Amino acid sequence: IEESETTLRPPICCVMGHVDTGKTKLLDSIKRTNVQKTEAGGITQQISATYIPTENIRERTKDLKADAKIDVTGLLVIDTPGHESFNNLRSRGSSLCDVAILVVDITNGLQPQTIESIELLKMKNTDVIENDKPLVVVALNKVDRLYGWKTFPDVPIANALKLQSSDVQLEFKDKVTKIITQFKEQGVNTELFYKNKDRLDTYSIVPTSAISGQGIPELLLLLVQWAQKTMIEKLTYRSDLVEGTVMEVKVTEGLGTTIDVILVNGVLHKGDEIVGPIHTTIRSLLTPRPVTELHIKGDYIYHKEIKATQVIKITAQNLEHAVAGTAVYVVRTNDDLARYKKLVMED
Ligand code: GTP
Ligand code: NA
Ligand code: MG
Repeated sequence: IEESETTLRPPICCVMGHVDTGKTKLLDSIKRTNVQKTEAGGITQQISATYIPTENIRERTKDLKADAKIDVTGLLVIDTPGHESFNNLRSRGSSLCDVAILVVDITNGLQPQTIESIELLKMKNTDVIENDKPLVVVALNKVDRLYGWKTFPDVPIANALKLQSSDVQLEFKDKVTKIITQFKEQGVNTELFYKNKDRLDTYSIVPTSAISGQGIPELLLLLVQWAQKTMIEKLTYRSDLVEGTVMEVKVTEGLGTTIDVILVNGVLHKGDEIVGPIHTTIRSLLTPRPVTELHIKGDYIYHKEIKATQVIKITAQNLEHAVAGTAVYVVRTNDDLARYKKLVMED
């Protein structure tokens, strides 16, 4: 992580959308290419989340000759594990995802869970200050499924579209027009990213193929450039505050009941006293061992302290009473304890 005047934390990016639209495949495509280009796992695989370092994003987007440089410190990408669980995560409100990729299958258009995802993102916008809106980019995926589509590797998607036959171009235009109308019916403005002038109020649509990787550089560039342009305050790292949400409560082999926490901001230490619906002391702070170090014994790395933004596995007593989707607070003084207990009641 580069030092600058203000230290930024990585934006949290949720990938959302209807079943089988290609959310996981898109992430696979992002990870594989980055792994290939940077050797020895430049990517940290975390619990249910993947950290993509800035270097990888720069490398992946360099053919786009972007005018602005990329400052944001990577992206923490979370593949949403289905609508139900995601709803739990959302209960904490606006703290979790800073940016979102809404995946739509170009051949199917908007589907029930696309609409549910839109609703969740809208909910996130109520009651919050304007610049707290999550930035949403629509990945219009599976463009390679359009009949007669030709893949032009490494050609930016906007140019690749111009290189298609007139039939493919017509079909593409027809599908996009229909999908923009479907979004409008949900009260959302959308526009193809290369035509979009108002990215805060209009979601950009990036045509993608998770199979060929086409459109993915454009998607990444939009996310990081807009995050760094519009969210500096929100993404400023703060050591004086801990913001975390319980993602999952589960029994982990050899560790008993553990919680997976997204640490959005601040720093956690071994021995910290935490309150949520539970009140306990952190026994260990764990992250999964990168695949490149599998010859070393144990699946986890033990940490004395961990800085945001990361997904962490915590072991402690009483965790069976923890609740997914609730906030985690750290108690440093007696005042804290009273205040947090009150907050927890409101959660
Ligand atoms: P859930 O997690 O179950 O909601 O699905 P998902 O959205 O993660 O979709 P997934 O990545 O599992 O992909 C579903 C199927 O679509 C798989 O068979 C993928 O290979 C295929 N697929 C995904 N993206 C593309 C694409 O861009 N083009 C084509 N042709 N197939 C794709
Ligand atoms: Na699937
Ligand atoms: Mg998936």
